[in-house]
Amino acid sequence: MSATEIQSPRSKAPGVGSGRIAPQYRRSGTSKGNFEMLAWLFMRLSGVVLVVLIFGHLTVNLLVGEGIHAIDFGFVAGKWADPFWQIWDLAMLWLAMLHGTNGVRTIINDYAEKDATRMWLKVVLYAATTVIIILGTLVIFTFDPCPVVNGVQLPGGFCPAP
Ligand code: HEM
Repeated sequence: MSATEIQSPRSKAPGVGSGRIAPQYRRSGTSKGNFEMLAWLFMRLSGVVLVVLIFGHLTVNLLVGEGIHAIDFGFVAGKWADPFWQIWDLAMLWLAMLHGTNGVRTIINDYAEKDATRMWLKVVLYAATTVIIILGTLVIFTFDPCPVVNGVQLPGGFCPAP
């Protein structure tokens, strides 16, 4: 093999036929339908949308007006009082989580060699994703800027007295 020859992915050993898959990379199941193609497409499309969402988020939070110095409880409360920013943050949460989860799923499939290891790593990954997406979605839509607990107003001084 010359120094510049690139090995085909998952091939057995230098010089061994390009289509051969080394035993540790053989998978018992095959993916159903065109799921992997759709997942590949999703990574590209969600990536493009995430660029817009993330840079919009950073610009509005860190650059515009007083920038980072204006960020406090009231700043977040003000943003989430507007359905536009609720939907923006919701889209950012869902797309980043699904994009990141699918990326890590790919890495697990590529690097974990035992069937059981891959399975358990993905169980943990999907469980974490589900919890974060549900909790994050609840926070965005149930956020109360003027919480009253046992008749006591919490926190901040900008809410009307209960
Ligand atoms: C700024 C916007 C982003 C763009 C344009 C983008 C783009 C991409 C693309 C095109 C891939 C596929 C690479 C491949 O198949 O070889 C990818 C993979 C990945 N992305 Fe993103 N991404 C963005 C944001 C994020 C965010 C916010 C996360 C985490 C939540 C993330 C986590 C990942 C992971 C874990 C992978 C898999 C890496 C791998 O296969 O080696 N990305 N990204």
